Amino acid sequence: MQKQINRNGSQASKIFDNRTLEKDYRTLIPILKKGMQILDVGCGTGAITKDIAKVIGENGKIIGIDNTEKFISSGKEHYGHLKNMELIHADINDFQHTEKFDLIISARTMQWLSGVDSALQKMKSLLKANGQISILDYNHTDIEWEPTPPASMLKFYEIFLKWRSDAGMSNQMAKDLPALLKKNGFNNIEKINSDEHCQKADTDFVSNIGIWSKVAGLTQMVEEGYLTNELRVQAIEEYNIWIETRAESMILKLDEVRATL
Ligand SMILES: C[S@@+](CC[C@H](N)C(=O)[O-])C[C@H]1O[C@@H](n2cnc3c(N)ncnc32)[C@H](O)[C@@H]1O
Repeated sequence: MQKQINRNGSQASKIFDNRTLEKDYRTLIPILKKGMQILDVGCGTGAITKDIAKVIGENGKIIGIDNTEKFISSGKEHYGHLKNMELIHADINDFQHTEKFDLIISARTMQWLSGVDSALQKMKSLLKANGQISILDYNHTDIEWEPTPPASMLKFYEIFLKWRSDAGMSNQMAKDLPALLKKNGFNNIEKINSDEHCQKADTDFVSNIGIWSKVAGLTQMVEEGYLTNELRVQAIEEYNIWIETRAESMILKLDEVRATL
């Protein structure tokens, strides 16, 4: 049932490795406390997880799970020395743990699930009675570029969103989350804006705004008949020229949504 983009492992690993708590999950920081027991669902290579491990201290513990084995292996290689962090190759739907958690987090992962209800039910079953859940996710339909990118990339992006929605994934997961959490029995639902602004003056501007050339670099949607290879290549070429010559900014729309039992 669940479909996932066949990411180029090293490319995706590189993007995930560069993430930090401060930069990429900043709204979570105020609710982190020393000694917390935390589960990070869809931790990627553990880059944000390791920053959280530092904040919760030696009496705290964070477990990161991810269903892509190579991301977990890479995380273990880099952060295996951290005593209060454990990375486990597991799918959220199969994950079992005897101790319950104070906080369950999940960043940029629910957007890839076609069965969000079952994942939320599993998270609910793993949460302490006074625990909290925090999910950070995208509203892909609301992306903003300045100025408008080339028509070929806009077409590619439209097809990408269609490919996602045909596979049962939401293109506005952050907007859907409050209702999904309510339906699954969570309370005290709170939404916090967490947009990612990418400006020309930023040192990592070309790499960040270039995310869509990297997505278009994957041939999976061509193989599945969603677009021609010519359009895919044209979108990459024209978008890269646009980045070099005209691009000013991009805003990826995200919210952190929190709830309790
Ligand atoms: C976009 S990455 C986010 C990584 C990290 N949380 C971050 O914000 O950089 C989404 C991750 O979710 C993982 N994932 C997708 N479905 C999953 C599932 N059912 N159970 C566990 N992990 C899953 C993917 O392998 C991927 O590493």
